[in-house]
Amino acid sequence: MECRGPLAKSCWLLLLLLLLPPPSHNHRGRALRQIPPTQGIQDPPAVHLSNGPGQEPVSVMIFNLTKIKKSSSSFEFRTWDSEGVLFYGDTNPKDDWFVLGLRDGRPEIQLHNPWAQFTVGAGPRLDDGKWHKVEVKILGDSVLLGVDEEVVLHLRQVSGPLAKKPQPVMRIALGGLLFPASSLRLPMVPALDACLRRDSWLDPQAQISVSAPTSLRNCTGESQPGIFFPSGTRAEFRLQDIPQPHVEPWAFSVHLGLQQAAGSGHLLALGTPENPSWLSLQLRDQKVVLSYGSGPGLDLPLVLGLPLQLKLDVSQALLTQGPKKTSLVLPPVGLDSLLSLWAHPQGRLFLGALPGEASSASFCLDSLWAQDQRLDVDRALSRSRDIWTHSCPQIPGNATDTTH
Ligand SMILES: *[C@@H]1O[C@H](CO)[C@@H](O)[C@H](O)[C@H]1NC(C)=O
Ligand SMILES: *[C@@H]1O[C@H](CO)[C@@H](O)[C@H](O)[C@H]1NC(C)=O
Ligand SMILES: *[C@@H]1O[C@H](CO)[C@@H](O)[C@H](O)[C@H]1NC(C)=O
Repeated sequence: MECRGPLAKSCWLLLLLLLLPPPSHNHRGRALRQIPPTQGIQDPPAVHLSNGPGQEPVSVMIFNLTKIKKSSSSFEFRTWDSEGVLFYGDTNPKDDWFVLGLRDGRPEIQLHNPWAQFTVGAGPRLDDGKWHKVEVKILGDSVLLGVDEEVVLHLRQVSGPLAKKPQPVMRIALGGLLFPASSLRLPMVPALDACLRRDSWLDPQAQISVSAPTSLRNCTGESQPGIFFPSGTRAEFRLQDIPQPHVEPWAFSVHLGLQQAAGSGHLLALGTPENPSWLSLQLRDQKVVLSYGSGPGLDLPLVLGLPLQLKLDVSQALLTQGPKKTSLVLPPVGLDSLLSLWAHPQGRLFLGALPGEASSASFCLDSLWAQDQRLDVDRALSRSRDIWTHSCPQIPGNATDTTH
């Protein structure tokens, strides 16, 4: 289209109008384009993929392979979690199964059937909190993996004809496995803190059954990266499993990036299940209180957004946040108790509510480090089912753009 001369202006306008998407409403708000009244332009509902700390899926579907005409599946998901299972499929958990997961944020396929057995990673990192579309297609003897409308992996000679499987029933499990995690080819922590929507699995005509999702969370709000402890929840690490203290001289440190906090109760404690708070950090009256045993404690005003650092050595516990510091002198028996706590098989680092504590504290950590190494709540000895392992509710008005 040429846009010259006296009519150029209206000509450009026409061009612009042609390029713009059609408006859905005119100035009076009357619909120019038909939009289904209930759906509108809102996003479709999403399901959360996590069912707690184990490998249990949130939903299982069963298909009759002799009736299958469409052998592709697609869905959209968003996550800040770099590791876990998106879906598992099998006709037999022993010798014919398939897993699509994330490792280091990138898609990974583990496959084991009579034609092929392998583990392969491909494609870009997808753990950026944005919606991504994934498509898995079985085409003859090939499996294709598509991410955001691009084929990122084409696996050839890895499948036999679906309808000729000895067991003509396929199970698909979302967000978990239908066998022990130890049966995976390459170990992976199955739990994935992710939301899933617009999903379409194989051929609906061939679906025999589907279980209602059992997720513990919904996906209505936006999220930001972090670890969220709703009130009353706890994660527990064995001291012997986390990065070890420096030996000569003895020293140990923990960093907490406290982004959101409300209520009162424990944030962190070192102890054993019988005597959980040998040393503790509590949230109380907008303060962070450091105490030794049941002693009175010292406090710092609660400031969100600055990393809170707790450093222990043989004589003191030092709590630092930005320019503010407070230190608690440990009693002379301190070193012995510290060393024996680390030597104790029951020595624990507790985060959140202590066993038996009625805590109202809820908080979001954007980082959690011990001895300058990141701790992954997915690898805790135990944790409450309700902890958000890789996300926090979004602080209103602070939009990390996670839409589209
Ligand atoms: C699968 O479909 C075939 C053909 O309709 C039918 O004969 C068979 O009983 C079905 N199997 C199951 C497990 O539903
Ligand atoms: C989703 O969960 C939030 C809290 O996490 C709750 O306030 C809200 O009512 C829930 N929405 C639905 C539709 O269940
Ligand atoms: C928004 O979040 C960023 C990073 O988490 C933080 O630095 C900033 O202070 C926050 N802004 C507000 C208004 O909370």
